[in-house]
Amino acid sequence: MIGKICGTGSYVPEKTVSNDDLAKIVDTSDEWIRERTGVARRHIAEQDTVVSMGAKAAEKALENAGISPEEVDLILVGTSTSNVIFPSAACSIQKEIGAVHAAGLDVSAACTGFLSVYQIGQAYIQSGMAKTVLLIGAECLSRLVNWKDRGTCILFGDGAGAAVLQADETASCLQTVLHSDGAKGWTLTCDSRHKEGDKDLSQDPSTYIQMDGREVFKFALTKVPEAVREVLEKAEISADDISWFLLHQANIRIIEGVAKRLRIGMERFPSNMEEYGNTSAASIPILLDEMNRSGKLERGQKLVMSGFGAGLTWGACVFEW
Ligand code: UT7
Repeated sequence: MIGKICGTGSYVPEKTVSNDDLAKIVDTSDEWIRERTGVARRHIAEQDTVVSMGAKAAEKALENAGISPEEVDLILVGTSTSNVIFPSAACSIQKEIGAVHAAGLDVSAACTGFLSVYQIGQAYIQSGMAKTVLLIGAECLSRLVNWKDRGTCILFGDGAGAAVLQADETASCLQTVLHSDGAKGWTLTCDSRHKEGDKDLSQDPSTYIQMDGREVFKFALTKVPEAVREVLEKAEISADDISWFLLHQANIRIIEGVAKRLRIGMERFPSNMEEYGNTSAASIPILLDEMNRSGKLERGQKLVMSGFGAGLTWGACVFEW
């Protein structure tokens, strides 16, 4: 038995920051950001946290699925930006939504977070250890961005997306691949914020997101097409049979490059980073929810999801909607 996604939800904070707003604080322009990344604005949390955003997205997903919180066996949260180390975001979300019978745990896989929780959730269902799994990708990247660094602050945004995965006898198609390369971890890092003795390290640049943008760009253009080909081969499915390729929303040029390398038209690669920027583990589930609610997904369609990011981590999965 495998799981089928039976409901989705998402939530982003109300406040938006435009490219022109950013041009007032760093040496950049709306034209540069749009051309190099495809981002026009991002939503930024004021009062919201990973937990509050994740809980709102989860409630919408459960409502969409017609499933009560008490039916959830397991809550998996892909996040790297919770404002507390423990309790986990999953346990705090459990409390917020009243999923009293669920176990909860967080998964740290940066922008590959949602793909990772999807795979873990499927493994729990396949092994019979869970029937109903709530998958969440939630991030508050604005906390970890250096607002003086134009190389990173233009890219990221806050938000959350969720999906309910439930054991389903009719679900038949599923393949997944997941990879890591710790040796390349240096390309995208963020130290945990802490005090060392009496020293406040919050002004230390290493406590913010640090990125070698070009290296990460090259990595994504190499590894994402590889992972997509690998998962399709494993599933013995042709790319022609895939209705939608849902990629992590990091940069429109990465998506265009991946589509070109796979020789697939951009019309099958939906994108929304213009509105949200890169929301890390939340980007794929927010996109999935938008596709679901706008009626673009039809039962029986085959979908590919592919994530990539810090670790380095990357992977892909193919499944039937
Ligand atoms: O979720 C996964 C995480 N991250 C990613 O996926 C990011 C992957 N990388 C990227 O998206 C791109 O590398 C960036 C958008 C970060 C940068 O774009 P790029 O085309 O790779 O630019 P670059 O770093 O090669 O810089 C080109 C020029 C440089 O100036 P010089 O040296 O040519 O004079 C930069 O200093 O653009 C300059 N630059 C900027 N100019 C205006 C860098 N950032 C900005 C900026 N505004 N915000």
